[in-house]
Amino acid sequence: MQVLDNVSPSSGASRRLLPGGEKMPAAMAAPSFPHGGEGGSRVPGEGAANANPAFTVVAEISTDVLAREALLDRVMGPMRKRKSSEKLRRGRVPSEGLAFVAKDAGGNLVGTVRLWDVRLGDNGPNTLLLGPLAVDPALKSAGIGSALMRHAVNEARRLGHGAILLVGDAPYYARFGFSAEKTAALAMPGPYERERFLALELSQGALSGASGVLAPTGRKAKPARSARAA
Ligand SMILES: CC(C)(COP(=O)(O)OP(=O)(O)OC[C@H]1O[C@@H](n2cnc3c(N)ncnc32)[C@H](O)[C@@H]1OP(=O)(O)O)[C@@H](O)C(=O)NCCC(=O)NCCS
Repeated sequence: MQVLDNVSPSSGASRRLLPGGEKMPAAMAAPSFPHGGEGGSRVPGEGAANANPAFTVVAEISTDVLAREALLDRVMGPMRKRKSSEKLRRGRVPSEGLAFVAKDAGGNLVGTVRLWDVRLGDNGPNTLLLGPLAVDPALKSAGIGSALMRHAVNEARRLGHGAILLVGDAPYYARFGFSAEKTAALAMPGPYERERFLALELSQGALSGASGVLAPTGRKAKPARSARAA
């Protein structure tokens, strides 16, 4: 399992391991800083005795899918599959290397975020749509959502993507640099609240002049085995 980050919810701040095991606040780390640790190791000094055990942000793997879906059902309810964003995700796989989960010290999945390939308008550039972002309600405000967001943004930038769009609460996403400033000429393929349609440019000007309705461009997901048998 590739460990992308080690974070301590007790501090509320994302932390990374320096080669010597010393902690460094994520705000100080360059996006290209090599990810430390192997096999989901925790931040040293924060073990079982800690009431707030450390959590880890890692790349999602196939065995995470059931727990991820259960978390999303619990956090967002069954109507989550009727959102406009879902039209851009349904039947597709996330953008290569851009699906992450947060796991607690016991390996339980406590957070999820994924990014999806979309096109802006009929002939516009490709970009990313982020979501859903969800955290176990029992661990609210422990910094897990922020850690997932920072990793998602850093990895998208590292992989060369130009921008990220999402539909969500501006007061939450503003802290990561998202705003509705660049989405006025863009539209989701279904109902949404315009003030919640947000974007972050990863390279300056990536959304300049972009207009039109978002369309899915992600690789198609293989049909589930039960669907093939039916
Ligand atoms: C939104 C969510 C992902 C935040 O995760 P989290 O791990 O609790 O967030 P963090 O610990 O990183 O940040 C907590 C801070 O964000 C604030 N916050 C949380 N949700 C917020 C919202 N919708 N609007 C504004 N601020 C919000 C908290 O008040 C807290 O503020 P503080 O740091 O000043 O105390 C999580 O609460 C969740 O899963 N909510 C339900 C699903 C959802 O709404 N997803 C986002 C839309 S796709």
